[in-house]
Amino acid sequence: MRNPQLNKHGELQHLLTLDGLPRAIINQILDTAAPFTEVAEREVKKLPLLRGKSVFNLFFENSTRTRTTFEIAAKRLSADVINLNVATSSTKKGETLLDTVDNLCAMHADMFVVRHESSGAPHLIAQHLENTGRDHIHVVNAGDGRHAHPTQGLLDMYTIRHYKKEFHNLTVAIVGDVLHSRVARSQIAALTTLGVPEVRVIGPRTLLPTDVEKMGVRYCATMEEGLKGVDVVMMLRLQNERMNGALLPSPQEFFKVWGLTADKLALAKPDAIVMHPGPMNRGVEIDSAVADGGQAVILPQVTFGIAVRMAVMSMLGGSH
Ligand code: CP
Repeated sequence: MRNPQLNKHGELQHLLTLDGLPRAIINQILDTAAPFTEVAEREVKKLPLLRGKSVFNLFFENSTRTRTTFEIAAKRLSADVINLNVATSSTKKGETLLDTVDNLCAMHADMFVVRHESSGAPHLIAQHLENTGRDHIHVVNAGDGRHAHPTQGLLDMYTIRHYKKEFHNLTVAIVGDVLHSRVARSQIAALTTLGVPEVRVIGPRTLLPTDVEKMGVRYCATMEEGLKGVDVVMMLRLQNERMNGALLPSPQEFFKVWGLTADKLALAKPDAIVMHPGPMNRGVEIDSAVADGGQAVILPQVTFGIAVRMAVMSMLGGSH
């Protein structure tokens, strides 16, 4: 069966999830991103790859990093960028998601970048476009519910490759609220596809999927066990907005046991890097001394996100 994210030539048609995305395509995105990091150093920070194309940012959920870096990336590729202000849009008058999409298509959209609180919303749009013969329009998932955040997963892989060079010799720990995290799902899919031999997940059982080991990871019950000797520590935010009821005693208790402090980080390799997708909750999942310390690569992640999003959009925009 054809991968729904690829066109009949095996090229990227939509980017909806990293689950099942071939390793060759992930590597192609990372390789395409590499020269784009230098565009920011130029006097004229622009390339003509999406000149004349209209990119619509549809963010139905809050965002700082993803929305802004998608906009910067599209503008650096010379696209026209339209940010739908969802709060003042007609979705508030009851217009459906697909009616909104149809109306934006009537304005000659070429690409939709979609963040939505419902898992599957970007898939629904992509399917609708294909069912209605508009497969020249591309969809990029900018985070849907608990499901996936593929460009975050890709920029995380770019960051790891930048600092560690290879994937085949790494031990990576993902710490915290995996259960509600679309970022963790995308990270696990990418890390396992790229051949990382050991991916550990660490956190309270109430914040891990019951069958987490089926995702190809090793469950570690304590920070001491999970952080020992790792090359990369990927912290996650507590996704309070997606929790039904109390799954934790308190943020203070969580920090005491699962928060990343300098003492706990000392269990990892001395050259281990610390990552966080943001937004961070200091004093809940990460101590400020670590977040601002020499091993943190949290702000470089954001910067690499621009190049990675440029890579994704240029591959989509040039694929037909
Ligand atoms: N990492 C991430 O998705 O951050 P935003 O919610 O600010 O976009």
